[in-house]
Amino acid sequence: MRRLLTRTATAVGILVLLVALGVVAKAWFDSRLPDSYSAMELSTLDFGGGPGADHRSHRMVSVETLRGPRAKPDFRATLVAKEAKVRLASGQTLSAWTFNGRVPGPELRVHQGDVVEVTLVNEDIESGVTIHWHGVDVPNAEDGVAGVTQNAVMPGERYTYRFRADQVGTFWYHSHQVASKQVRRGLYGAFVIEPSAGATPRQLDAVALVHDFSGRAAIGSYDGVQRRPVPMGAAVRLRLVNTNNSTARLFVAGTAFRVLAIDGTDVNAPTPVRNKYLVLGGGARYDVGFPMPAHSVRLGIAGSSTALVLGAERGDTQTLASETPADDFDPLGYGSPKLEPLSTTSDFDRSFELKLGKHIGFVNGRPGFHWSVNGKLFPDTPMYMVRRGDRVKMRIVNSSGTVHPMHLHGHHLLVLSRDGQRNTGSPWWVDTLDVFPDEEYEVAFRADNPGIWMDHCHNLPHARDGLTMHVAYEGVTTPFRLGDRPHDHPE
Ligand code: C2O
Ligand code: CU
Repeated sequence: MRRLLTRTATAVGILVLLVALGVVAKAWFDSRLPDSYSAMELSTLDFGGGPGADHRSHRMVSVETLRGPRAKPDFRATLVAKEAKVRLASGQTLSAWTFNGRVPGPELRVHQGDVVEVTLVNEDIESGVTIHWHGVDVPNAEDGVAGVTQNAVMPGERYTYRFRADQVGTFWYHSHQVASKQVRRGLYGAFVIEPSAGATPRQLDAVALVHDFSGRAAIGSYDGVQRRPVPMGAAVRLRLVNTNNSTARLFVAGTAFRVLAIDGTDVNAPTPVRNKYLVLGGGARYDVGFPMPAHSVRLGIAGSSTALVLGAERGDTQTLASETPADDFDPLGYGSPKLEPLSTTSDFDRSFELKLGKHIGFVNGRPGFHWSVNGKLFPDTPMYMVRRGDRVKMRIVNSSGTVHPMHLHGHHLLVLSRDGQRNTGSPWWVDTLDVFPDEEYEVAFRADNPGIWMDHCHNLPHARDGLTMHVAYEGVTTPFRLGDRPHDHPE
């Protein structure tokens, strides 16, 4: 009797094990990505409570037709992607991937209203290149996402981007082909849209691109202290850009300042700030401004001696070095409110959930704990479906234990609330929102730019490892394909 029981138990055990193995094998098999697939194919359509439609059979428009203006350009540039040995200010040399042989690439400054034409030429970047205009809400075909809005530009090829520069502010450009590698290695630069009226005299307007070159923090190409003389009383505007994957904590020592703009949108009625860290998620921008005092001012990075020192040739940089902030600047509640219909309406056409987590399973055949969205692993992540004209609300909840700078292409998001607390300050518009563990944001946007738009984590290795979704307009399709054949991997 006892022996029979043991035998049955063993048999049942083996059976359970086989079934479990079968389930795991199937999960592994199902998770493998095809060699080539459309962004539209694999994800789960999410209509956010709005009208559903099978976008696969709708009267379809290709992303290729969603181009910028054909008018004569007001601004023209050519960016040549190529490998180059680059020397940082410290003398350290890098084998970098560059635009025009420089890291960062050339700073492009245009004026509001300009028709911008940039020709990308790939000289010798083997894996191909594209240019994405981070934060500029360009027409979809100009968005530079390999495998979604174009094919990667291979060595010897070129591609021309055209768009009208409508938003005044601070942006940046970077390759969106194998971006997790290419941005780190140098394929990025600043893109600034100035107001169309002429600049005011006696001012310093400078971009500070913060980047990590294999562990060396740099501002621009200065991996150390850069000094710039600035006359007392000059209006200073520093455009801070975090081109890294992880959060940068920057500070301005020696003066009070105002946060003039966030992610390329002006703050309404900014008030003076002093002794606060500016916490920038990967890809985010802050513009700060102040009148130049009689002594020097230091732009510093927490945990690094790299700095930009303005003003005095010598002297008080020592004392300033010890002046570090006590706490963080919080955009929620900063500045004054301004009428913004999206923030007062409760009448949304769609409401989406974006719950970031970690989940055990397979992604493309790789077992492990992977990033998940709404409990699902890539590519089973949501495709947020919208219609032109929709007012859209999105709730972002981070239960993954890690900070994620969430970036939506082609649109700006208005922050409505954080952890249930409504924003009572200036409208806070973002294109890249650093969502810390256990935080919950409600954001809103207007669906006014048809296309298929990436919505991903700007910690680019996270995006590569599955934190990638799309917002897609009903009726828009793409002829481009992701995958190994041909080689189009936006992240
Ligand atoms: Cu800065 Cu999807 O990119
Ligand atoms: Cu992330």
